[in-house]
Amino acid sequence: MHRLARASEQGCADYSFTAMQKATHAGLHAFGSLTVRQILKHKVRPLPVNSRCYSVIPPSLDSDEKNMLEMMLRVDHAGEYGANRIYAGQMAVLGRSQAGPLIQEMWDQEKKHLARFNEILAENRVRPTALLPLWNLAGFVLGASTALLGKEGAMACTVAVEESITEHYNSQIRALMEKDPERYTELLQIIKEFRDDEMEHHDTGLAHDAETLPGYWLLKTSIQLGCKAAISISQRI
Ligand SMILES: [Fe+2]
Ligand SMILES: [Fe+2]
Repeated sequence: MHRLARASEQGCADYSFTAMQKATHAGLHAFGSLTVRQILKHKVRPLPVNSRCYSVIPPSLDSDEKNMLEMMLRVDHAGEYGANRIYAGQMAVLGRSQAGPLIQEMWDQEKKHLARFNEILAENRVRPTALLPLWNLAGFVLGASTALLGKEGAMACTVAVEESITEHYNSQIRALMEKDPERYTELLQIIKEFRDDEMEHHDTGLAHDAETLPGYWLLKTSIQLGCKAAISISQRI
């Protein structure tokens, strides 16, 4: 009886061991074939060297970075939009004067700046400032009213505005360089290029008698205070 029971226990143990071996083998086989199938299914297409999955703005790491970049893009877009309206106002008054082609040349560059920021905002789903209608009117009125003072008035306005925009871009360049120049290479490239254009506009204004306008420093200071306020508001609203 004992012998029979022992033989029966031994048989069960052998059976369990064999069943486990089979299950393990089947599991490994199934895993192995699944992995091979998956590997065959998902063809890996290597990215070209140095390519990135984004055009200008890297995907945000966290909400802080997202907010920072959105604020930067929003205010830059607003600035370029305002600059376009200022030159439109100047051209409405001085378009047929001798200063016309010079102002048009600067305006054409502003149009390119604005077009680029329009693209970047759309690509990254960043909303423009809600104050665009205000900058539309304020920019045009500023451009036209200073142009009514003559070519020197328009140039004084250009010097004031372009100096403010240059300083603004420089502060953004510093901020991005401090954070991670590698990560923001494309954005930095664009901002630096536009900053150089704005500096050229500033120098053009100086070269065309901006400082000879009576009350030049008062006008310049007033316009720059307005620019600072516009920059501050456009980042948030
Ligand atoms: Fe610009
Ligand atoms: Fe400019």
